[in-house]
Amino acid sequence: MSDKPEILITTASLHPPTVAKLDAAFTTHRLWQAADRRAFLASIADRVEGIATGLGGTVDAALIAALPRLRIIATSTVGLDAIDLGAARSRGIAVTNTPDVLTDCVADFALGLTIASARRICEADRFVRQGKWLAGGFPLATKLGGKTMGIVGMGRIGQAIATRAVAFGMEIAYHGPRAKSELPYRYYATLADLAAASHFLIVTAPGGTATRHMIDADILKSLGTKGTLINIARGSVVDEAALVAALQSGTIGGAALDVFADEPHVPEALFAMENVVLQPHLGSATEETRAAMGQLVVDNLKAFFAGEALLTPVG
Ligand code: GLV
Repeated sequence: MSDKPEILITTASLHPPTVAKLDAAFTTHRLWQAADRRAFLASIADRVEGIATGLGGTVDAALIAALPRLRIIATSTVGLDAIDLGAARSRGIAVTNTPDVLTDCVADFALGLTIASARRICEADRFVRQGKWLAGGFPLATKLGGKTMGIVGMGRIGQAIATRAVAFGMEIAYHGPRAKSELPYRYYATLADLAAASHFLIVTAPGGTATRHMIDADILKSLGTKGTLINIARGSVVDEAALVAALQSGTIGGAALDVFADEPHVPEALFAMENVVLQPHLGSATEETRAAMGQLVVDNLKAFFAGEALLTPVG
């Protein structure tokens, strides 16, 4: 019998080289491959001390309860909404995530979506492929410079987006739990006022119950026809039914969405809308960043089982 610590990997979405490193350092079990999840968990319950999880993986109270020897959960995400932190805390289970290493790629992607929306890049690509250019030119689009980018949540990713948007000549405004006086950007105490002032409203706030449906029908109404909603955070932050309705009625100008309420399910009503850019949750999806995120998962787990300090513990 191996004396390697035993860990459960919850999802097939982890970067394959990361999984190879986990397989080398630990005895691993793959939850998504289990035909009978309950029986599978029961068969490893007396041995599993760690979880490696990531996008698409859920570590809820039931999973935590099914693993009585669990001591650490390491997620290859910065977002913690898929982990029941209360259940982990009550058992003294350590949790680690992947801050900082993904900030640049997610911010790059947010600007990509902003430019794609404003300049109608995806729509124009379809226009060329469908041979429509032969019949005439593509309609004019919208300039970014001089427009206001409203950032919902001014954390690490929000600030990296702001830096990039400034380089495009955009005005930056934001809303969050508090004004950050160290930042040179305009703070709005209410989300409705930020939406009213924004041409591009970018959601970067974390998911979870505190932010659920923060972007609702009223906020979309404040954003109005001049505005585009861009979501690179979590689908739960936006009331998706209200968003679909706002797009159908022309209440807002458009949307660019990397995240959805029930991934990978995307409301089909959006498929035919030319003013909507749809992406399959790709914010951090580069080889470099996924490797760095995965390395943190491996290093946090190794540090934990060696009795060393965790690299990126969740406070
Ligand atoms: C991605 O969505 C993450 O939370 O890292």
